[in-house]
Amino acid sequence: MSRLKGKRIIVVGAGSGIGAATVRRLAGEGARVCVADINTEGANTVAQQVCESGGEAYPIAIDLADKRTVDEAVAFSVERLGGLDGAHINAADLRVIMEDSDAETVSLDIFDRTIDVNLKGHLLCTRAVLPHLLANDSGAIVYTSSSAADAGEPVRPSYAMSKSGLNALMRHVASCYGARGITANSVAPGFVLTAEMESSGHLTDDIKNYMLSRIPGTRLGSPDDIAGMVAMLLSEDGRWINGQVFNVNGGALMR
Ligand SMILES: NC(=O)c1ccc[n+]([C@@H]2O[C@H](COP(=O)([O-])OP(=O)(O)OC[C@H]3O[C@@H](n4cnc5c(N)ncnc54)[C@H](O)[C@@H]3O)[C@@H](O)[C@H]2O)c1
Repeated sequence: MSRLKGKRIIVVGAGSGIGAATVRRLAGEGARVCVADINTEGANTVAQQVCESGGEAYPIAIDLADKRTVDEAVAFSVERLGGLDGAHINAADLRVIMEDSDAETVSLDIFDRTIDVNLKGHLLCTRAVLPHLLANDSGAIVYTSSSAADAGEPVRPSYAMSKSGLNALMRHVASCYGARGITANSVAPGFVLTAEMESSGHLTDDIKNYMLSRIPGTRLGSPDDIAGMVAMLLSEDGRWINGQVFNVNGGALMR
């Protein structure tokens, strides 16, 4: 399939999990991709795998909590790819999520870090990529949100707020820049089992069975399930889709 042939795309938060699967999917569909992550080792590995399979991918360091690196990573991507046609902004600091307890007790450091990376960093990225998309009068941005934005859960309030805010940013971008050829959409995954989660050893069979019991389906989600939706939204097939949140969750949360 060459639906994305020649498209120039940056994936942010691409060194593992869903972002890495998206890079592989985009490159497999013909896109030229920059692989941006704070985890430079992961970004290098993903880019190398793509190149070894005959695709084109370049690793870049980025820290969404540091505006300078965001601007530099986008500038590097534009230089390497000769412009930009799309961005998948997917990063989140999930190391702090276990301490994101509840409204009464969550530490403000955890809240600030979550908002800095998952929300403010996404604004910084949006601000950095937009001029390059607008220069073409065309472009697509896909954000990775989460079911947590809408689920109403008794835990991880900072994370849910960051993802809810991200959907608001997405709708703003869709609304403000749509008439200038830009689309913006969110993909909201449900529970997605990544290779990193599997290898962490934290996911017992009991936890996996519990997660499966909450899905009206036969299996848990995989990063490729999300990558397929992102690829569609970044392709010409998605050109008349703007301002939407797509729940990709096996039916775990129906809206
Ligand atoms: N896996 C799930 O069940 C699930 C469910 C809902 C939403 N999501 C969302 O999907 C996205 C990807 O998550 P994942 O499950 O693949 O986990 P992941 O940890 O593999 O991916 C997150 C990526 O973001 C990067 N990152 C973290 N902090 C960063 C920073 N400051 N600057 C730049 N990059 C940074 C990490 O290095 C990592 O590569 C996240 O936005 C997450 O909130 C995941």
